[in-house]
Amino acid sequence: MEDNETIKVIKNRRAIRDYDTSRDVPDDLIYKIIEAGGYAPSAENQQPWRVIVVRDKKLQEFIGQIAVDRTILLFGRATPREELERRLSYIESKASLERTIDILISGQRFEYIKGKSETNGAPVLLVLAVDQTHVGNSQPTLRGTGGVYGWSGPRHAVIAGAMMMENMALAAASLGIGSCVSSVQLDHFDDVGAISEKLGIPFPHWVPILCLTLGYAKYDRTLGPPRQGPDEIAFLNKWGEFFAKEGMK
Ligand SMILES: Cc1cc2nc3c(=O)[nH]c(=O)nc-3n(C[C@H](O)[C@H](O)[C@H](O)COP(=O)(O)O)c2cc1C
Repeated sequence: MEDNETIKVIKNRRAIRDYDTSRDVPDDLIYKIIEAGGYAPSAENQQPWRVIVVRDKKLQEFIGQIAVDRTILLFGRATPREELERRLSYIESKASLERTIDILISGQRFEYIKGKSETNGAPVLLVLAVDQTHVGNSQPTLRGTGGVYGWSGPRHAVIAGAMMMENMALAAASLGIGSCVSSVQLDHFDDVGAISEKLGIPFPHWVPILCLTLGYAKYDRTLGPPRQGPDEIAFLNKWGEFFAKEGMK
């Protein structure tokens, strides 16, 4: 079956880490992207999310530097080289593999978050925070009514936030705007605290979980890491019994 427009956008979206710094993303497009994000599903329609549009270069640099520092610790020191090579084994050319490992272990790969023109930085950085208590916030009718609570509260908030993020990335792609989801600057408890304090996020009630850079791509990027198809990931009725059959494509 032919892909329709929506499926084409889904398949063509790529993580963009080099931006055309001569082009800004206008506020009305950012508005559209966040609006599309808000149409994501959430448990009880509680919409447990807030987005901070970071345009301030100093703030972008602060958050980007955390990503760079954390990457150096994670990939440069804590992950053995053989493990990096294994994870990146889809890169066929030896030279590209070496370059990718180099920019990863030196943190350079995440310079784009700082928004600087010298490193093809993104003009806009969105920070997505979710309400860990998930007990009614955006919806006036649900405010303070309890709702999802206990262990499932934070879990539902993160799930809903992730869906909201994907909506935003796809909406951006549909508008010709590149994006990249990033979490490396929020993977460590200390970094979450530091970023929350800097942006005034009422942590730990609200917790920033993901960032999304936005901007026009500097280079066309159609190739991405390979995907496993339904033949490999889908089962019928029972784990291990493959769903896909000849001719389904
Ligand atoms: C939860 C999550 C965290 C991610 N964290 C980072 C990150 O910290 N930095 C980054 O550059 N990309 C990050 N990515 C983007 C992935 O690396 C990228 O989506 C993946 O390699 C597939 O590539 P594609 O989006 O181009 O298809 C993240 C994506 C997700 C969903």
